[in-house]
Amino acid sequence: MSKLAILGGTPILERHPEYMNWPRGDEATREALLRTLRSGVWGTLGKENERFANKYAAYCQTKHCLPVLNGTVSLELIFRALGIGWGDEVIVSPYTFSASVHSIVLAGAAPVFADTDPETFTLSPASVEERVTPRTRAILGVHLGGRPFDVDAISAIAEKHGLILIEDAAHAHGSEWRSHCCGSLGRAGSFSFQASKNLSCGEGGAITTNDTALYQRLWSMHHNGRDFEGQGYDHPLLGTDARLAEWQCAVLAAQMERLDGDIERRMRSAELLDRELAKLPFISVCRKDERITRNSLHLYPFRYHAERLGGLPREIFLKALNAEHVCRADSGYSEPIYRMKMLYTEDYSRMTGRTFADPAGDLPGNELLASSQGCWLQHTSLLGSDEDTLRVVEAFARVGEQAEELRRAFGQEG
Ligand SMILES: Cc1ncc(COP(=O)(O)O)c(C=O)c1O
Repeated sequence: MSKLAILGGTPILERHPEYMNWPRGDEATREALLRTLRSGVWGTLGKENERFANKYAAYCQTKHCLPVLNGTVSLELIFRALGIGWGDEVIVSPYTFSASVHSIVLAGAAPVFADTDPETFTLSPASVEERVTPRTRAILGVHLGGRPFDVDAISAIAEKHGLILIEDAAHAHGSEWRSHCCGSLGRAGSFSFQASKNLSCGEGGAITTNDTALYQRLWSMHHNGRDFEGQGYDHPLLGTDARLAEWQCAVLAAQMERLDGDIERRMRSAELLDRELAKLPFISVCRKDERITRNSLHLYPFRYHAERLGGLPREIFLKALNAEHVCRADSGYSEPIYRMKMLYTEDYSRMTGRTFADPAGDLPGNELLASSQGCWLQHTSLLGSDEDTLRVVEAFARVGEQAEELRRAFGQEG
């Protein structure tokens, strides 16, 4: 058995393969940037914006798409445009990036955390239902890593209690639930095109919706509160400047050409990983769900069971795995968002009129993922051939086989 790289052996690959470099420029993207340069329209709301908005709306099966600055401001705008704010509660997944929560608070509403199902890394429907109060206005579900949350169950809860369902689809470009695209499954969907995302222009975001009145209000609000399609100095609404420049829209339209091919590749790799990693006793792969007809796999989440490798800590396991240069893995949202300082500040109280109480005791699923089991592979790890993916499996197996040596080397015995 070859010695692990982290223990002084030779890594499976000398360096990470080329296909893992991200984001990825190409000739079409270069052309798009040059076209914008020469057009003389660099700001916003030009032809590139219109082209991308139409193309992305069609891709997401929605009537409208509004390109905006990023996937944080998109969520803030959605809450504000829906009139969700002071005195309201929004039920949200705790297994997410801070933006999902910041946006609720910046709108003046209070985030209420429902639990995470450790087998899917997404919202537990039963826990969502338990959190509904007379103050609940909306549910913000996160399609974690591109895996849609249980849309049937969460939509039914929203309907039953008269709540608005909003999708944080920052990871879910092209994912589908029962052949319906993420971003079209609730009242509005929010996307991020930040540098690490599967569809990227460096920094950018978009809102998708089928609600024309909401779209028009969002359009106004992202354009300093001007009248819908207005350009002058009349500002009937309170808004901000969240317009996305022509450069980014041009890049996004060009990058979209590769999206479906990449998704197919990642889904094939995920299938292989699901099958092979499930054979390793110290790994659990996510639960299969036939209702998920497409998964962008921005992340490939899995659970690590340290106790099945003699207590080898997660961080050491991941460090050893990464040192083999065949994938990039990390421990995900290991610092739970509800313990972050931002929720215990004076600002939080001033904005929401409340103080925040740590809900960890009610979130055993999320605690398990955050504290010990949750891990993911970044999406670029799934962009190679079957042979490349089998090298990833080999790296997992190697680390498992040498767990004892690792424990000794890192002083983790006993
Ligand atoms: C789940 C989730 N929501 C929202 C965002 C915010 O997107 P952005 O970085 O474009 O502001 C991110 C960014 O990583 C995210 O992961």
